[in-house]
Amino acid sequence: MHNLTLRPLTMADAQTAFMWRNDSDTCRFSRDSKPAQWAGHVGWFTKRVNGLADGELYRIAVNTDGISVGLVWTTTEPDGTHEVHYRVDPNYRDEGIGTEMVQCFIKGWLVAEDPFVCPIIVGNEPSERLAAKFGLMPGKPTRVNPKDETDKRLIRTWAKAA
Ligand SMILES: CC(C)(COP(=O)(O)OP(=O)(O)OC[C@H]1O[C@@H](n2cnc3c(N)ncnc32)[C@H](O)[C@@H]1OP(=O)(O)O)[C@@H](O)C(=O)NCCC(=O)NCCS
Repeated sequence: MHNLTLRPLTMADAQTAFMWRNDSDTCRFSRDSKPAQWAGHVGWFTKRVNGLADGELYRIAVNTDGISVGLVWTTTEPDGTHEVHYRVDPNYRDEGIGTEMVQCFIKGWLVAEDPFVCPIIVGNEPSERLAAKFGLMPGKPTRVNPKDETDKRLIRTWAKAA
């Protein structure tokens, strides 16, 4: 157990979140695999700090040394389903932090009956294993970017079995 604390974002997190966004694995397993540009990132981040993105909620995970180790958030689909997303600082992966962070987030911010799902690009083994630990099962694979012939990646929505 890491005894993580989850707290809201502040503008002081912008640089750290930028580094996490542009980490090579995060790019590889994001719908938009291109690295973010700083100016665009700051605009995006400011909106989230100010809670201006409808149906979205962001939290930073902090360890007992006060170090920010990950970002977890939810977005809400038109049918009310919550998508849960997460990324862990590359220096702190494979230590159980992702699992604990998502566990805390689900307990603290999602109502128990709320269905939640995780869209995961096929081959993202740590994320697939994490989702499986929450009882989620993979759905049918679809292309990540069907309009881009050069992008052969597939994505599946992991959800609780009906
Ligand atoms: C996905 C991610 C958040 C997982 O965080 P983490 O702190 O490493 O996760 P955990 O340590 O809790 O491990 C979760 C599971 O993945 C496994 N795992 C971790 N790193 C792994 C690796 N490099 N290869 C294979 N399995 C791995 C762990 O063993 C564990 O599975 P198990 O309990 O069945 O053994 C992290 O890898 C990450 O930030 N990746 C880049 C961003 C990303 O892909 N986000 C998700 C988009 S859907």
